Amino acid sequence: MVEQGPEDDPTVLHVPVMAGAVAERLAPALDRPDAVYVDGTLGMAGHACLILDRCPQAVLVGIDQDAEALDVAGRRLARFGSRVRLVQARFDDLGRILDDAGVTHLDAMLLDLGLSSLQIDRAARGFAYRVDAPLDMRMDTRGTLTAADVLNTYPPAELVRILREYGEERQAQRIVRAIVAERGHAPFTTSARLVQTIISALPAAVRGRQSGHPARRVFQALRIEVNGELDALAGVLPVMLERMNQHARAAVLAYHSLEDRIVKRAFAEAASDLAPAGLPVVPEHLLARFTLLTRGAQRPTAEEIAKNPRAASARLRVIERVRPSTGEAR
Ligand SMILES: C[S@@+](CC[C@H](N)C(=O)[O-])C[C@H]1O[C@@H](n2cnc3c(N)ncnc32)[C@H](O)[C@@H]1O
Repeated sequence: MVEQGPEDDPTVLHVPVMAGAVAERLAPALDRPDAVYVDGTLGMAGHACLILDRCPQAVLVGIDQDAEALDVAGRRLARFGSRVRLVQARFDDLGRILDDAGVTHLDAMLLDLGLSSLQIDRAARGFAYRVDAPLDMRMDTRGTLTAADVLNTYPPAELVRILREYGEERQAQRIVRAIVAERGHAPFTTSARLVQTIISALPAAVRGRQSGHPARRVFQALRIEVNGELDALAGVLPVMLERMNQHARAAVLAYHSLEDRIVKRAFAEAASDLAPAGLPVVPEHLLARFTLLTRGAQRPTAEEIAKNPRAASARLRVIERVRPSTGEAR
């Protein structure tokens, strides 16, 4: 018997972010027999269901590193039968995943970065700072590094770097001093003590000036470190671009500026001519292989944010291959 989770409860609403915009951008690339759609962050398959419904000729390679997400997605996608192939892996393993699936090139790909509602809402996964739960934060529970390990074993300077770089936390020094003093008494195991440590490390004046929950940036930083999120993103983009057929499209939904910066740079570079600056006429073979379909990042509408507050920070960037790379199949 399949165990029931909150995702099976019809009152729990999972709303895929900017789903209409994503489907509209990707659909033209999936309008041919056996077009390959890769969802690198399948989650609860909200986007994937919509795209498979809208693009009846497409087949899906659905990737997620979270076994629980794949289980839910598998049930939601069952009605699409043999059009669906699911893989538990990190998306930066894309080259191997496609090779194993016998697919050389893809026609559309989506990366909807960050956490799924399932991960945020399940207290036991340890991602939420508003409930007391074990400091875990692994998206792939086969991994060995947890948030508690990071907090209890990393040298102070490394913790400061992580909070500054991945959390953009200005009070990193202060917070790490408090964490190191606390872990000297007893190792951190659950989130409530960490939240309390963060709050007590911040002077009232600083707390008053900050936007959002005082623990938000530290939790973001720990999550990025535990899951190697930025390395995975930087690793997948060149492989994704390389494996795109001519006229293939790729969309990335980012939720904070660190992720978005990586996507913006990789897409801008791919959409630039390969000719040295100042060349009066760019020869055909040096013209850019890609074009940006979004000028800047596309944001959700105010109406969508009102209905789905989790969409508020979303930034969508979409790119299309307009010229083949040398030796490409199509
Ligand atoms: C925001 S959710 C995706 C939601 C999905 N678009 C939907 O409509 O249900 C992000 C998902 O990507 C997965 N994920 C994040 N980073 C990953 C990575 N590097 N490799 C594979 N999966 C990843 C997470 O486990 C999570 O399930």
